[in-house]
Amino acid sequence: MVKNKNNKTIWGTRIKKNTSNLFQKIGGSINFDKRLYKEDITGSIAHVEMLFKQKIISFKIKNKIIYGLNKIKNEISKNKFEFNTKYEDIHMNIEKRLSQIIGTEAGFIHTARSRNDQVITDFKIWIKSSTLEIDNYLNKIIKSTLKIAEKNIETIMPGFTHLKNAQALSFGHYLMAYIEMFNRDKRRFLNNLESLNENPLGVSALTGTSFNIDRYFTTKKLGFKNPTNNSIDTVSDRDFVLDYLYSCSVCSMHISRIAEELIIWNSDGFGLIKLSDKIVTGSSIMPQKKNPDLLEYLRGKTGSIYGNLFSMLTILKGLPLSYFKDLQDDKEIVFKSNDLLVNCLKILDEILNNISPNKKKMLELASSGYLTATDLADYLVKNFSLSFREAYEKTASIVNFAEKNKKKLEELTIVELRKIEPKLTDDVLKVFDLKNSVNSKKSYGGTSFENIKKMIVKYKKQI
Ligand code: ARG
Repeated sequence: MVKNKNNKTIWGTRIKKNTSNLFQKIGGSINFDKRLYKEDITGSIAHVEMLFKQKIISFKIKNKIIYGLNKIKNEISKNKFEFNTKYEDIHMNIEKRLSQIIGTEAGFIHTARSRNDQVITDFKIWIKSSTLEIDNYLNKIIKSTLKIAEKNIETIMPGFTHLKNAQALSFGHYLMAYIEMFNRDKRRFLNNLESLNENPLGVSALTGTSFNIDRYFTTKKLGFKNPTNNSIDTVSDRDFVLDYLYSCSVCSMHISRIAEELIIWNSDGFGLIKLSDKIVTGSSIMPQKKNPDLLEYLRGKTGSIYGNLFSMLTILKGLPLSYFKDLQDDKEIVFKSNDLLVNCLKILDEILNNISPNKKKMLELASSGYLTATDLADYLVKNFSLSFREAYEKTASIVNFAEKNKKKLEELTIVELRKIEPKLTDDVLKVFDLKNSVNSKKSYGGTSFENIKKMIVKYKKQI
């Protein structure tokens, strides 16, 4: 461990007493913002390169500082760095260590810079890479979903509204509804890049700086697109944090909906899917149990992810401009959401690779509950020039008759059907065939096999 020998704080000349132990313990952020060390060092290197280019510091000092910063990066990555709560955060811990390594010239690093712009710079870079990491995980999930969908184009199951059997559809089509959700998540996260690409560095504490700095230089060096426009807004703004937390929340909400659906389908009442032993756990008392704990984990974690969004919204509510200590909590909140979401995405991918449909049960369930009633109504409209409402009435009477006689629609004879609609012929019987029903939904976005195949090709091109 490298010990910090000179243990005076940066403000030690002005503030005569040591910060109270309690405040040192709770007021610092080093325990979580040390995660920003790489971004902080990258930002500082770009900053001193700019200071040198603008002739604000000398070549020698610039090189010394960069040498020191790289050494620190190495120490931290090898766990050889002693973080000290006395220096509050990652920025001061690094600056302090830099002065131990290169001496007083380390002091030039903070010319034309404040921790206020420094921290947002680090944070934006970090959130940007987290965004791209999440995008990657989403791609993986889309691929896994597509793999199951492709194998189940003709697997017929009931679709539900109000959790009551509604119309027959393809299991593949159902799964691809999730792909749409994840594609929207991808778009939502990637849309955030626009504000993440605005470079805060150089706005200093809140008003800008009198030094002749070049914000376009650091913008380019750090991979941003433009410098931010207003120094006060820049140090106060955490909208990009909210955008990220909101994107995490929506994505996690999607995961929870899928998880819940899989829990229902796996329940003994439904039995539509089987979970492999890899993704279930047992009971301590009931030897027969195989519980979908992992799916419940996914459903539950959404609560914490929402909580993080609401914490940040609440911190920002009514906060005057510009910087306040309140804002320091943003990082812990974001890290928590990131870690939870990444875990959930990994788990969901594993789950998707460990489920199998019970095709027989799916078909059985689709055969109960008069799922082809709408098909019959459509048939009456198309063949007997009835309005849809007239056809609906007649079909309802046929369903009532079937229910009363404890028959499925396909079990009714043509004689029975004709009692309600005399114009019917044997031709009508084809509408009761589930496969026919699914395949007839050829409107764009519908569940016909043809549509599904086309969509699979489209999704494959996207990833
Ligand atoms: N650790 C601080 C934070 O994350 C850095 C900014 C400190 N600025 C200040 N004026 N105290 O918010």
